[in-house]
Amino acid sequence: MFLYHKPVMVGEVMEILDVTADDLCIDATLGMGGHTEAILRRLGTNGRVIGIDKDDNAIAIAGERIADERTVIVKEDFANMRTVIRGLGYDGVDKILLDLGLCMGQIRDMERGFSFDSDYRLDMRINRDLPLTAHQVVNTFREEKLREIILTYGQESRYGAIAKAIVTQRRDKRIDTCRELAEIVAGQYRGGRGKIHPATKTFQALRVFVNDEIGTLVRTLDACPDLLRSNGRLCVISYNSLEDRAVKTFLRQRQDAGQFKTLTKKPLTPNPLEVRENPSSRSAKLRGGIKL
Ligand SMILES: C[S@@+](CC[C@H](N)C(=O)[O-])C[C@H]1O[C@@H](n2cnc3c(N)ncnc32)[C@H](O)[C@@H]1O
Repeated sequence: MFLYHKPVMVGEVMEILDVTADDLCIDATLGMGGHTEAILRRLGTNGRVIGIDKDDNAIAIAGERIADERTVIVKEDFANMRTVIRGLGYDGVDKILLDLGLCMGQIRDMERGFSFDSDYRLDMRINRDLPLTAHQVVNTFREEKLREIILTYGQESRYGAIAKAIVTQRRDKRIDTCRELAEIVAGQYRGGRGKIHPATKTFQALRVFVNDEIGTLVRTLDACPDLLRSNGRLCVISYNSLEDRAVKTFLRQRQDAGQFKTLTKKPLTPNPLEVRENPSSRSAKLRGGIKL
């Protein structure tokens, strides 16, 4: 199953990237190719898009949807963008887009083990070739490490109680499914958490940890000044405060070093109409800059 993923803030992304006919662009988070399609509409016959994703399903679906000879699709971690670019014979690019996180189809694909209501095994790997799963983290990591992960990557205030409950439960029986974990976490929120599922922050923490999402993002941003040609543009959409802080810090430091000009003093956010039509866009924050 791969549900349609509506690309987020397409107009704003196009404004920040300012794609021109002959650009060489990287869509480093190809997903279902929504942003790539918008970029292709602005490119001429000599323009190119390199689409990168580390998820097999995304590569397969986008590959089928985007039958355009100006696009090259590569299964790779975006942290290895430099190798991809060099491997294709280029020494730099004009535009880089990072639309972080996951597509709806990945989250709602029960077998992937991202969803609270999945009765499949906890997994949460974006790249399923890698060995570490959320199942392993939840069932084998020490309580202290679980506390640290849930606090650092989920900013969950009940991190101590949740880590303790996980360790207590697994002494009796292994925690196999997402639903089992979600129920253990919900047990620490007896009064409920309003509209938000009580396990939201814990699930985010595990996903970010399993995929090393922040470390990968920081390494990737650090490579961008070198990969972008002069006047090249970077656009990043993030979906949680950890990601947004990393992008904001990167742009500020590079601006101070005279390498980048920030295009977004404050992050751009989706307008109310977009949020109404696509509620999963509500946490999006977009930042961009120009390589000087
Ligand atoms: C929000 S979706 C992108 C949606 C896309 N912009 C579209 O319009 O369809 C994020 C995508 O990035 C991919 N991804 C996340 N982290 C990655 C990484 N480190 N390397 C490569 N791809 C990654 C995910 O597999 C997912 O397909």
